[in-house]
Amino acid sequence: MSESIKTVSEGGAAQQVSVERLLEPVRLGPYDLPSRLGMAPLTRSRARQPGNVPFSLNACYYEQRASAALIISEATQVSQQGQGYAWTPGIHSLEQVEGWKLVTSAVHKSNGLIFLQLWHVGRISHPSLQPDGMLPVAPSAIKPREMAFIENDHGEGVLVPFVTPRSLQIEEMPYIVRQYARKRECSRGRVRWCRDSRRERLSS
Ligand SMILES: Cc1cc2nc3c(=O)[nH]c(=O)nc-3n(C[C@H](O)[C@H](O)[C@H](O)COP(=O)(O)O)c2cc1C
Repeated sequence: MSESIKTVSEGGAAQQVSVERLLEPVRLGPYDLPSRLGMAPLTRSRARQPGNVPFSLNACYYEQRASAALIISEATQVSQQGQGYAWTPGIHSLEQVEGWKLVTSAVHKSNGLIFLQLWHVGRISHPSLQPDGMLPVAPSAIKPREMAFIENDHGEGVLVPFVTPRSLQIEEMPYIVRQYARKRECSRGRVRWCRDSRRERLSS
């Protein structure tokens, strides 16, 4: 008799899934995956400082997990403005792109497949994470209820109350969209780099 595990579908109904099926190869778009076992994105807050740069530690972490059929990386900010937690990696500076290449090379060497998860956290941020200590941006100026995770003056991670964000103007929206579009271009080596990401401005 084949072993099965219980999962809960989106509708809340329990389903039995056979372990054999989990281990079967599957096609996902253009990719042939050896199994249905993927690794969910997990924020680790382990990027090298200063600069939120992925480095050998992150490469080792992902390489150790390359036997998953598919890895979705930890969420990675598309701009300094898009950062919401201390020490998360970005992909908006040349150094960060080189850091991610270390990671992808390590995963590929172990025959793994990895996708980068991009994020811009909006109001789930704090001035200490923003360029020039500016207010985080959001659709509306509504303060989140929970706490922000930031680095204090002693280099420790601490939880502090969120602040009321600045609401974005309609004219700013193309800039936010461009932050994502630029990342795609970066990965194809077609971007002109802003070496100091803190200089990223509306005009970039
Ligand atoms: C420590 C931690 C970090 C996480 N980081 C991310 C993240 O960067 N991006 C994301 O989409 N989800 C993130 N998640 C959500 C997980 O990927 C996953 O969806 C969640 O834990 C629920 O998994 P489950 O349905 O298997 O219980 C995080 C979860 C945890 C516990």
